[in-house]
Amino acid sequence: MRGVSFWFVATGSVFVTLGMLGGIAMSISGDHSLAPAHAHLNLVGWVTMALFGVYYHLVPAAADTTLARAHFAIAAAGVVIMVPGIMLAITDRGESLAATGSLLTLASMLIFVVTVLRNRT
Ligand code: HEM
Repeated sequence: MRGVSFWFVATGSVFVTLGMLGGIAMSISGDHSLAPAHAHLNLVGWVTMALFGVYYHLVPAAADTTLARAHFAIAAAGVVIMVPGIMLAITDRGESLAATGSLLTLASMLIFVVTVLRNRT
């Protein structure tokens, strides 16, 4: 695996490692209040990122593009911004970071929709 596929899967595997550590911390402390942040880190940061990585691996023509590299940057930034944003929102410290991260995450998915449609064979 190389290029953007590698970066999606590698970054996603770091995200899920952090998500698991957060899950273990929740279990040990008995405080599950940040469970939505944990869920989004694992599902958007790992499952979604890994699916993007596998797609780009299976469709190399889609991977060797500036759009694919932008897709990776926007998807990763979305997770990095949205997950702490959810933590802030849950703890009543504002929702603007969560909103920014969620818009980046939506943009990432829209790029993926365009990519899939463009690379129909
Ligand atoms: C070491 C691994 C993990 C641990 C220890 C862990 C732990 C936890 C804990 C303690 C909760 C809160 C449960 C509750 O309050 O009802 C939770 C919720 C959740 N976890 Fe994990 N988890 C792990 C991995 C994962 C992974 C890999 C995923 C997804 C790919 C995942 C997805 C979720 C989801 C969707 C929820 C529900 C969140 C919610 O109700 O708001 N978790 N997890």
